[in-house]
Amino acid sequence: MVRSPRPEDKFSFGLWTVGWLGVDPFGTASRPALSPVEYAERLAELGAWGVTFHDNDVFPFGSDDATREQVCADFKRAADKAGLVIEMVTTNTFTHPVFKDGALTSNDRDVRRYGLRKVLRAVDLAGDMGATTFVMWGGREGSEYDGSKDLHAAMERYKEGLDTVAGHIKDQGYDLRIALEPKPNEPRGDIFLPTVGHALALIAELDHGDIVGLNPETGHEQMAGLNYTHALGQALWSGKLFHIDLNGQRGIKYDQDLVFGHGDLMSAFFTVDLLENGFPSRPDGPRYDGPRHFDYKPSRTEHMAGVWESAQANMAAYLMLAEKARAFRADDRVTEAMAYAGVPDLAEPTMADGETVADLLAAPDDFDPERAAERDFGFVRLQQLALEHLIG
Ligand code: GCO
Ligand code: MN
Ligand code: MN
Repeated sequence: MVRSPRPEDKFSFGLWTVGWLGVDPFGTASRPALSPVEYAERLAELGAWGVTFHDNDVFPFGSDDATREQVCADFKRAADKAGLVIEMVTTNTFTHPVFKDGALTSNDRDVRRYGLRKVLRAVDLAGDMGATTFVMWGGREGSEYDGSKDLHAAMERYKEGLDTVAGHIKDQGYDLRIALEPKPNEPRGDIFLPTVGHALALIAELDHGDIVGLNPETGHEQMAGLNYTHALGQALWSGKLFHIDLNGQRGIKYDQDLVFGHGDLMSAFFTVDLLENGFPSRPDGPRYDGPRHFDYKPSRTEHMAGVWESAQANMAAYLMLAEKARAFRADDRVTEAMAYAGVPDLAEPTMADGETVADLLAAPDDFDPERAAERDFGFVRLQQLALEHLIG
């Protein structure tokens, strides 16, 4: 049996996760709706530390200011009472058909101006709620047909929108950072910023890129056939891993949003290993110490009991994997296998201190490629040790 979640585990859930009613493109709701406050209270009972939401998870699209303020104040009070931290707030710029061609990158300028106002108002809400991360998932930014977009203009408008939002955060002095969430497709045929790499490249072009980073989601990288742990590693190396969305996915298909660990388990093991133990050569960092945020959907087959079981399952899976990952790193056989594999050697700079290109080129070449090619790396043995810790 795995221990119960504790506040220091920093487990956090989107309201829209346990609050998903099972509506999909082919079917109507399979569960009743509870109030945002009820979802939050239940998550707290299960041991969650944090909760996150889209503006329209707590008040309906188009609510007047009075309703909006009232509902948000009530929710904040309920979260405080339950002891839940509202660590992240985000905007819904995808449900209403006004956003069918995007918000920040819609071809319709009036829609872009409206979308930007909605995002800015959600930033103010995030500031008021004391959130420290503002996630931006541009699910409708993209296209189905290549002829429908001027791609240069689309990147310009994406940059303009992000810089406007980041500039507003700085002007207001909020303790808030933006985390972009890449996804390759769904709901658009092709979404802009499809992967972590694309998002990092856009951030490098921003005027206010210093407060813009990433919120990579397990399934989104895997939908593109990519390695989620590698995406986290590169974001962390770049100082841009601001937030994470953990869940499960099996292969290149629609966004499954399964429970964390219910998709590619071996990959989930190395994800947790990186999050908990850091880079093997860098015990002192960079490390991710933010929320362990789950963005999953309780399967449509489950009723309310299954909703709460699945929420618990995410946390239990993480805790079990964390235990296994710690044992993996502490195992002498693993240390040995890593040394044999040359894992620690990659941390040594290829050029010597002060060495120039001329020095390198002039170095007496006693290197024998034929002999070096005979080397055995033993990566398979290392992987088998991981498997042994995982399921042995
Ligand atoms: C998805 C996304 C969303 C976002 C959410 C927060 O694929 O639907 O993962 O769930 O995470 O909108 O921005
Ligand atoms: Mn998703
Ligand atoms: Mn997500």
